[in-house]
Amino acid sequence: MNICVVGSGYVGLVTGACLADFGVHVTGVDKDASKVEALNRGEIPIYEPGLATLVRKNMEADRLSFTTDLGPALEAADAIFIAVGTPSLPDGSADLSFVRQVAESIGDHLNGYKVVITKSTVPIGTGQMVEETIRQRAGGEQEFAVVSNPEFLREGSAIEDFMRPDRVVIGSRDERAVEMMLDIYSPLRIADVPFVVTNVESAELIKYASNGFLATKISFINEVATLCEKLGADVEVVARGMGLDNRIGPKFLNSGPGFGGSCFPKDTRAVAQIAHDCDERFRIIDAVLEANEAVKERMVTKVEAALGGSADGKTLAVLGLSFKPDTDDIRESPAIEIAQGLAARGARLRCFDPEAMEEAKEELPENGDRVSYHGDAYAAADGADAVLILTEWNQFRKLELENLAKRLTQPLIIDLRNIYDPSRVAAAGFRYVSVGRGEAAPGKDEPVRSRVLVGDGPL
Ligand code: UGA
Repeated sequence: MNICVVGSGYVGLVTGACLADFGVHVTGVDKDASKVEALNRGEIPIYEPGLATLVRKNMEADRLSFTTDLGPALEAADAIFIAVGTPSLPDGSADLSFVRQVAESIGDHLNGYKVVITKSTVPIGTGQMVEETIRQRAGGEQEFAVVSNPEFLREGSAIEDFMRPDRVVIGSRDERAVEMMLDIYSPLRIADVPFVVTNVESAELIKYASNGFLATKISFINEVATLCEKLGADVEVVARGMGLDNRIGPKFLNSGPGFGGSCFPKDTRAVAQIAHDCDERFRIIDAVLEANEAVKERMVTKVEAALGGSADGKTLAVLGLSFKPDTDDIRESPAIEIAQGLAARGARLRCFDPEAMEEAKEELPENGDRVSYHGDAYAAADGADAVLILTEWNQFRKLELENLAKRLTQPLIIDLRNIYDPSRVAAAGFRYVSVGRGEAAPGKDEPVRSRVLVGDGPL
């Protein structure tokens, strides 16, 4: 079987490498010639754990190659995955011009039965558009089928998510296409992964509804965190207490500075727009979008309050700039927005991120001692008035607190990702400000330490 994956961005690259690893032949196509050249040398343009190794392994086994030449790759393919970008338009809807261009090329090169799969997150009805576009261009002589096969990869664990997904969704109205998809994914079927086979519209909506729901969970717990701070409750314990109810589940209840990245913000806006296009309102999603904007502003105010009411003239060691750990992606990163907000209020920022500093410099340019970048967390802390944790990279979970204390002008950690145990940080002599939890400081003990117990021991 020959597979063509159009678009060698995040989704396309992971999909292509993983499908090649299933044993089929994959040609990745991208119009960016320098990217294709680099890929053919085994150089991967993005940071994603395990991806470089998987790409190189499958290139060496002659199952994976890259080209800019779309036509021959389409003609040779039995199945074509469309994994091109669908950026947001100013009104929040997805820009489908790249998808349309690929559909036109497929129509131009249709030389036998092919299955055309939309992998990018696309608005409901895109499958229909792809089908009509191909049919118009191909002139109706050749057979083909369109499939929606949304991806559920998370940056930072994309390979694992592809190889061990919670489910695979296949939407089509052509049984032959469904059979081909089940064949392509046979290694996952052997591993007992559930497959949801349905129509194209349902498949497309499963993706949006899933991301909308996950974003809702995050905004929900962020709003709970605000209440916790007002009421003297602890959001970490509240989230655990909620999550132990199997109907709620413990995942995606980490409160913080709001969700970012290339998916949740874009997809929640798209869900709102999809509802609007149907003359409806998705009220919950509207509220989620509003809450996610508000939480970032609230974080800036919170940092100012921790610094005594104003950030003006204060120096912060900013740790973490990517939208989440294990990625160099800063798209819609709350960390960047909060850092920009603090810089606008007069704070001096000494930044460090393990992978995303070059990308961050585009949005938060170096500017003398107002915005500077440093080689590690300790260098960033030199002479700063506080450490501000914005992204929960593992290396920030184990900072040497004594070393930090020596470098700071005062022992203050503002942790917007709740990665520390407040009592531990306070015991090391720090004032510790986090999200949805009371402030901790040396000598300020809680009368009862919150914990979850099962039988005689902790859970
Ligand atoms: C998300 C989904 O998790 C994937 O299933 C989906 O395939 C992907 O979008 C997509 O549509 O392509 P991703 O954006 O890579 O994946 O990252 P997540 O790990 O989901 O995190 C998204 C944002 O939510 C981050 O800013 C993260 O910090 C935030 N988040 C996540 C929280 O604030 N709290 C949580 O409990 C979980």
